[in-house]
Amino acid sequence: MTNVPWWRHAVCYQIYVRSFADSDGDGVGDLAGIAQRLPYLADLGVDAIWLTPFYRSPQADHGYDVADYRDVDPLFGSLATFDEMLAQAHELGLRVIVDIVPNHSSDQHEWFRAALAAGPGSPERERYVFRDGRGADGGKPPNNWQSVFGGPAWTQVDDGQWYLHLFDSGQPDFDWDNPEVGDEFESILRFWLDRGVDGFRIDVAHGLAKESGLPDVDEFVLAAADDLTPSGLSARALAARPYWDQPAVHDVYRRWHRVLGSYEGDRMAIAEAWVPTAETLARYIRRDELQQAFNFLWLQAEWSAAQFRQVIVDTFAAVEPVGASPTWVLANHDVIRTVTRYGDGPVGVARARSAALAMLALPGSAYVYQGDELGLPQIDVAEADRQDPTWRRGGGVGRDGCRIPIPWAADDAPPFGFGPNGSAPWLPQPSDWGARSVASQERDPESMLALYRSALRLRRELVPGLGDRVTLVERGAADVFAFARAATRPGESGLVCVVNCGAAAVPVGDLGEPILTSGPGVVSDGALAPDAAGWFRA
Ligand code: GLC
Repeated sequence: MTNVPWWRHAVCYQIYVRSFADSDGDGVGDLAGIAQRLPYLADLGVDAIWLTPFYRSPQADHGYDVADYRDVDPLFGSLATFDEMLAQAHELGLRVIVDIVPNHSSDQHEWFRAALAAGPGSPERERYVFRDGRGADGGKPPNNWQSVFGGPAWTQVDDGQWYLHLFDSGQPDFDWDNPEVGDEFESILRFWLDRGVDGFRIDVAHGLAKESGLPDVDEFVLAAADDLTPSGLSARALAARPYWDQPAVHDVYRRWHRVLGSYEGDRMAIAEAWVPTAETLARYIRRDELQQAFNFLWLQAEWSAAQFRQVIVDTFAAVEPVGASPTWVLANHDVIRTVTRYGDGPVGVARARSAALAMLALPGSAYVYQGDELGLPQIDVAEADRQDPTWRRGGGVGRDGCRIPIPWAADDAPPFGFGPNGSAPWLPQPSDWGARSVASQERDPESMLALYRSALRLRRELVPGLGDRVTLVERGAADVFAFARAATRPGESGLVCVVNCGAAAVPVGDLGEPILTSGPGVVSDGALAPDAAGWFRA
C-alpha cells in the first residue's frame, strides 16, 4: 500500500463551515471553531476534511460567492487562523481540502466591479459573460437560460448590457474563453497549495465552459425542468444544457493536473460535476485530469437493492477503464439529509445506518457530510428563517434544512454547544436537539455516532488487506444486495457486506458471525433483519 496516494481510500468529512462550530458567538461557524473540534474528527476516524468556502464574500450564497479568493472572510477568521487550523489538522494526521469556486465570483469581486465601471466592449467586461439583450431596445435577456436557483440566468446592468449568472445574480459567471481567467485560477490554486492544503473540491466543475454562441435551451427541455428530484435537487442542475459538461472544461482540468503534480505530497482535486452518467463523470478523472469526482449516483439511488447494485456496476465500469478509483457520497449541503431521504422515523434511520455501512465497505473513497454521523434529520425551516438564495429566487424550499448548526452539547436549549451559551445560531436549531448532540451520542453505544466510529475504525484496519475490486454476490433474494472484496494477503479472509432492502429477514448464517452490523440485534438466528446491513469476513 506504500505507493498508494492517500486520497484513494480516504474517508473525507465535509465541514459546512457556517454550521460546524462557532468560536466567537456571532452565530456563524468559523475556522477557530473547526480547530477546536479537530480532535473530535481525528477520533471519529476520518482521514481528511473538506471545508466549504471561507473566503471573503458577501455571503449571497453563503460563501459560494467569492469576493477575494486569497483571503479569509472576517466572519470566519483570518489567514493566520487558517494557517493554525491547517497545522493542527496536519498534526492530527488529517488532510485538508478547500473548496474552490471557479465558475463564478461574487458581484463584489474587484474584477466584476471593474467590469461594471469600464463599460461595454472593455477588456474588463471580457472576464465575465456580458452580452447585449434581445428585442428592439435590448430589453430582453440574451437567451432563455434559467438560473439553477430559479428565474432568468441574466441580469441587466445600468448601461443596458446583461451578465450571465447560472446561480444567484450575486454570482456572475466568468468567461473561461478568456485566458486571463485561467491564469488567475492557476495563481489562486498555487496560493493555497503553497500554504499547504492537500487538495481542492471544485465547485460546479462541469459549468465553466459554455457552448459557443450561447444558444437557447430547447423550449421543450426548459419546460420539463422545474421539478425537484427525490434528493431535493433542481432537475435544472442535472439535465443536459449548453452550459453543462462542455468538452472545453477538460482543458482546464488538464492544466490543473499539471499544477497539482508540480507539488510534493499527492495533492488532489475532486470535481463536483452533476452529469447524467458514470461514464460522463469518468471523463473528469482520466489519467491527465482530476484525481476524483463525486459519485452522486449513490445518493440519487432510492432504497432499492436493484438500484444500489446498478450504481456499483456502472461506477466500476466507468472508472476502471480510465484507471481511476471510485468515490461514494451519501449527502452534502445541497441535498435532503440521508435519514429523511430514506423514510420517516426509525425506518429512515435504520436504512441510513445500513447505507453508511455499505458505503464504507466499498473500495475507493467516501465523503461524509457533517451531522450524518449524528443521523441529523432534514428540518423544515420556517419561511421567515430561510436564508438560502434558492428560496428567495423561487427555485424551491431551499437547502437550509440540511444546514442546521451542529449540536455538540446535551443541553436543554440551543445553541447546544455550537457557540457560546446565549448566542443564537444563524439557522434555528430544533429545541430537542440536545438528545441528538455529540455529547449524548458519545454516551450511547448504539448511537449513529458509535456506529460511524466502529465502522471507520474497522475500515482502517481492514483496508490495507483488501483488494480494490468488488464482486456482486447473489444472495437468492431480489431485495438484498451484497458484495465481496477479496483479501490481498494469502490465507486471510476478505470482506462481504450484505444489505437487506426488503421487508422480510433473510438468511446469512452461512457467512458466519458478522464483524459489524448496522444495529443491535439485526442479525439473529442466522437471519438479517429488513433495512439492516452486516459486514462478514468470508
Ligand atoms: C455548488 C454548491 C452549492 C452552491 C452552487 C453555486 O453546487 O455545492 O452549494 O450553491 O455550487 O456555487
